[in-house]
Amino acid sequence: MAKVKIIYSCQSCGYQSPKWLGRCPDCNQWNSLVEEKQERAAHPRGELSLGTKEEPSPIHAIATDEEGRVLSGIGEFDRVLGGGLVAGSVILIGGDPGIGKSTLLLQAFAAISQTGLTCLYVSGEESQRQIKMRAERLGILAPNLLVLSETSLERIIEQVKKLKPGVLVIDSIQTIFTSTLPSAPGSIAQVRESSGSIIVLAKKTGLTTFLIGHVTKDGAIAGPRVLEHMVDTVLYFEGESGHSFRILRAVKNRFGSTNEIGVFEMKEAGLKEVTNPSEIFLMERPLEVPGSAVVCSMEGTRPILVELQALVSRSFLAVPRRTTIGVDHNRVALLVAVLEKKMGARLFDQDIFVNVAGGVHVDEPAVDLGVIAAVASSHKEKIIDPRTVFFGEVGLAGEIRGISQAEARVKEAGKLGFERCVLPTSNSSQLTHIQHPKLAGVSSLQECWKLLF
Ligand code: TYD
Ligand code: MG
Repeated sequence: MAKVKIIYSCQSCGYQSPKWLGRCPDCNQWNSLVEEKQERAAHPRGELSLGTKEEPSPIHAIATDEEGRVLSGIGEFDRVLGGGLVAGSVILIGGDPGIGKSTLLLQAFAAISQTGLTCLYVSGEESQRQIKMRAERLGILAPNLLVLSETSLERIIEQVKKLKPGVLVIDSIQTIFTSTLPSAPGSIAQVRESSGSIIVLAKKTGLTTFLIGHVTKDGAIAGPRVLEHMVDTVLYFEGESGHSFRILRAVKNRFGSTNEIGVFEMKEAGLKEVTNPSEIFLMERPLEVPGSAVVCSMEGTRPILVELQALVSRSFLAVPRRTTIGVDHNRVALLVAVLEKKMGARLFDQDIFVNVAGGVHVDEPAVDLGVIAAVASSHKEKIIDPRTVFFGEVGLAGEIRGISQAEARVKEAGKLGFERCVLPTSNSSQLTHIQHPKLAGVSSLQECWKLLF
């Protein structure tokens, strides 16, 4: 009898090792390696594989049956996908439990089914009745929306072949298991095998498939890190627990730009699109207080204005605190160091808190100037004119560097009634045709300070 080979695989990232290790060398997680029998799938996916009998053909001769993308009708959702659904694409949606993934897809599917496409919603977590109750609450009982409560991969594939839906959602991929493997549902081997089969099925039949994935505490899609490489698009659905805003963010997209975001608000009757996020994020902004600066950050193709708040206060700790929410901690530490060295600000005995209002995350160097301005404003107790918007990257020598898509940012600021943009000189010199808002080009922090304080 053939010897059964044992391997240890990390349940968080899929790393495999022939011997047990306390800590995964790949993702540094402790205690995540679990003993598994090395499994070969019983069916080598031969019958499902992408195109076994295909011959190479000249690229111009490949038929694409150009039917365009299917629009769901939920604008924010379509934009994040890069302008609608592409037939045969596989989209992974990750997010914390309870953030609204099931709600989002149920609503999107109800909207898609209005276009005449048959939608199949497979849930491994809720029963048909529970889904119906949710749909009733959302007011979406569309006849083309089929609901199936199932966890067996084989039965799901059977149903897909029988019903031939146009779009499919698997909620969630961690609950699906294939009987060809003995390991438990949710284990890395199961997730990899099930999603592999589903992806091949999607590619072969042109079925647009959404996979919902749970996210671990540290933000990675649980287990199937491997999954991120296999699918076409990875979206994260995120939001702060205390806020009703939810942001759908594309982190990988083979059919559109990444970092595109869609903003939603969780209401009594489900998710509502927020089409003018800048307005919403700036709505409750305190005017005439120190420590507040408005920045313009590009989220994918769209400029969004957000308020950065900084609080600098006397520290009573040996090592003063630097706390950031919504901006990169290291970036803020670096900017504070530049502020100390170049502008002579005395911050070594001050606690510094930086927060992006509205629960948004901005991770672009273009917000540097805004961070520095907000921190300096709070430190000096001096108000920044509330009708000013900042953008620009700050270098270690205190220089302000040019950034991309300046025109789009300036226009967004103008649209929302801002009167002045403080931006890098290299950008403002190319935007001389813009009359409103007023452009104040700066090339160093010193120049910026002359304008502000
Ligand atoms: P859900 O879609 O079940 O989250 P996930 O699938 O990501 O785990 O969302 C559940 C949360 O959304 C729950 O906390 C209640 C809230 N919610 C509303 O506020 N309004 C609604 O209409 C619905 C359906 C849910
Ligand atoms: Mg759910």
